[in-house]
Amino acid sequence: MYGATKTKEDSLRILTVNEEPLVAALVRLDKSTFLHSLRTQKLAAALGKILEVSVGELHLLSIGALLHDIGKYYVPERILNKTTPLTAQEKGVIKSHSALGYYYLQPMALSEQIKEMVLCHHRWADGEGGYPKFAAVKKPSFLTQIVTVADVGDAMLSDRAYRPPLSVAECIGFLEKNTPHMFNRDVVKAFKNFMGGKGGISP
Ligand SMILES: [Fe+2]
Repeated sequence: MYGATKTKEDSLRILTVNEEPLVAALVRLDKSTFLHSLRTQKLAAALGKILEVSVGELHLLSIGALLHDIGKYYVPERILNKTTPLTAQEKGVIKSHSALGYYYLQPMALSEQIKEMVLCHHRWADGEGGYPKFAAVKKPSFLTQIVTVADVGDAMLSDRAYRPPLSVAECIGFLEKNTPHMFNRDVVKAFKNFMGGKGGISP
């Protein structure tokens, strides 16, 4: 699989000396979000390779996936780790994390493509739904659409505070059911390919 623990240092090494504040920002995330970020980076990079993105894009994708939830630092852990249903207000706080992460990165000398991955990773592939609503780029870039599938795939396959991991078949079924509106068809196919074709409902 794409487990994070064995290659944690490798994942963080893609950030250069000039980007050390970002390593510090990642490390201070709550443990669950930190490990999810490492796994999402591994998964997004694997999908990027299957989709034959260029070497340069693969580098941007890896950093964007690693940083995608950096804004969760601003979300209280009691909300992130809540085991009972979230209130509407708590959902709103969680949904603010992508914009907060973007604002955090905004003054940094970092590729705009990476910042867009952080801002738009919860927007739908067709640009019609998701959040934040005010995203400057309505339709996420292809690289961001890869981060989205890697993010959702890892979240569904992982143990969460409020539920145990879902099966690969359930995960692929959800992704395919919401393609192409929420998720990019080619990226979902790559995810299915990467997961060994287990489960799934479409040809
Ligand atoms: Fe997120």
